[in-house]
Amino acid sequence: MRILLASSEALPFSKTGGLADMVGSLAKFLARAGNEVGLVTPLYRGLRERFPDILPFDWRLELPLGPGRVAGGVWRRQAADGLTVYFIEQKDFFERGDLYQERGVDYADNAERFLFFSKAVVHLARYLPWKPELIHLHDWQTAAAALIARDQRLSEGWVAPPTCLTIHNLAYQGQFPAAKFALANAPASYFQPDGAEFYGGFNCLKAGIACADLLTTVSPRYAREITTEALGCGLDGELRRRQGALHGILNGVDYEEWKTEGNPYLAHSYSARDLGGKAAGKAALQRELGLPETPRTPLFGTVSRLAEQKGMDIQLAALQEMLAADMQFVLLGSGQREYERGFRRLAERHPAKCAVRIGFDTGLSHRIEAGCDFYLMPSRFEPCGLNQMYSLRYGTIPIVRATGGLDDSVVDASQDAARADGIKFTEYSTRALAKAMRKALVLYAEPGLAGHYQRNGMARDFSWERTAAAYQGIYRLLLDTPGKTFPERI
Ligand code: ADP
Ligand code: GLC
Repeated sequence: MRILLASSEALPFSKTGGLADMVGSLAKFLARAGNEVGLVTPLYRGLRERFPDILPFDWRLELPLGPGRVAGGVWRRQAADGLTVYFIEQKDFFERGDLYQERGVDYADNAERFLFFSKAVVHLARYLPWKPELIHLHDWQTAAAALIARDQRLSEGWVAPPTCLTIHNLAYQGQFPAAKFALANAPASYFQPDGAEFYGGFNCLKAGIACADLLTTVSPRYAREITTEALGCGLDGELRRRQGALHGILNGVDYEEWKTEGNPYLAHSYSARDLGGKAAGKAALQRELGLPETPRTPLFGTVSRLAEQKGMDIQLAALQEMLAADMQFVLLGSGQREYERGFRRLAERHPAKCAVRIGFDTGLSHRIEAGCDFYLMPSRFEPCGLNQMYSLRYGTIPIVRATGGLDDSVVDASQDAARADGIKFTEYSTRALAKAMRKALVLYAEPGLAGHYQRNGMARDFSWERTAAAYQGIYRLLLDTPGKTFPERI
């Protein structure tokens, strides 16, 4: 198949969260399975310096954006056999310090930036000589491309390839004032409650949900949850209407990156057969973060965006209570100021038990995954979540709230004692999280049982081959129903 993927972030080029891991791996494994894959992503600051083999592609873009036109360029990198990455250059939009925001505030021109990007995606889909057969969009930043492709198909007679939109997180929708809809240069008929309009404003994700031929999200449970009022973020009605086109596919793990043996970020290798290196990694982590090197003290860790989604309020409160016990906690993360402050304060109050690093550090994220005994992820909601799956492979027992992909990927003893690999709790409360942590302390005191959990977790297989095969099934659905693909409502 000839597939064009589009995303505002993708590894190894850019990353703020799991979207980058997911899209980078999807591209790699689709190409490896023999498909022809193009990946479109913005040319952010510093990329050409970091990747000198990003070369100019002989295209000038001159795309309508509201009343004016905006110029841009295209760069290209042959990343692997069958995988070409196309970088959209627009210096005013993408040569910035960060991807979406500065000091916690979204860039004021995000509508312009990502509408321009969405148009560039459609332009490539239309004119690339290898003629992509389908377009796979990711999140709100590219969702409007489904509307633009549909419009060009209807108004300009171009047989646009069908579109698939993956929702990685329904909480981020790309909502803008109504006037920004003009940037799409699409007929006003799309700006209505069945289309891109949402409470009087322009909603990019809603445009994609209405116009994409197929929708996916990143776990089966989240696919069900987003059709409910509780987790539908105002779009549950729209998603219920399109339920027949909505599929949940659990993300994979790139085990070539997330490995306990031969990992450049880890000084000590280990495996399920020989966990000695894990104990050495724990000691090294305690040393690195300035905690007492006590091998028998259970070490809990978290690597996360510090956002409301991640359950940081109950985590802070539960830790305040639980740090009275014999345990240690390490955190790597950044995000909302109040949580950064809260965790810093916790570390100041408990210097011998709690270490906090505010920032983004891939190497340290591996060392925390490897060196801890337990991984805490008490999310309020979680479309998929990757860290719990990384933890399982690293022999670090995850403690998760039973929601979205966390529920789909972790097995609690109450579900199946023989296969148990983590601890789940259901109620979103400090009390329930603290109780789950107390269960962890009991488990830790029984090394035989804890080892059983670890071995189960390390044997779990979330490899990308399987996830990529599931997406190819979706693509076949798209390609096998020609003419019936576009939703008829708008
Ligand atoms: P989300 O995409 O909602 O943030 P995921 O669990 O899907 O959550 O993915 C988060 C990814 O970002 C993981 O690969 C995680 O290791 C990484 N990550 C999050 N915060 C940091 C950080 N401060 N430093 C390094 N990596 C981080
Ligand atoms: C989003 C979600 C996360 C998911 C990731 C990759 O950032 O919050 O749960 O794992 O996308 O799909």
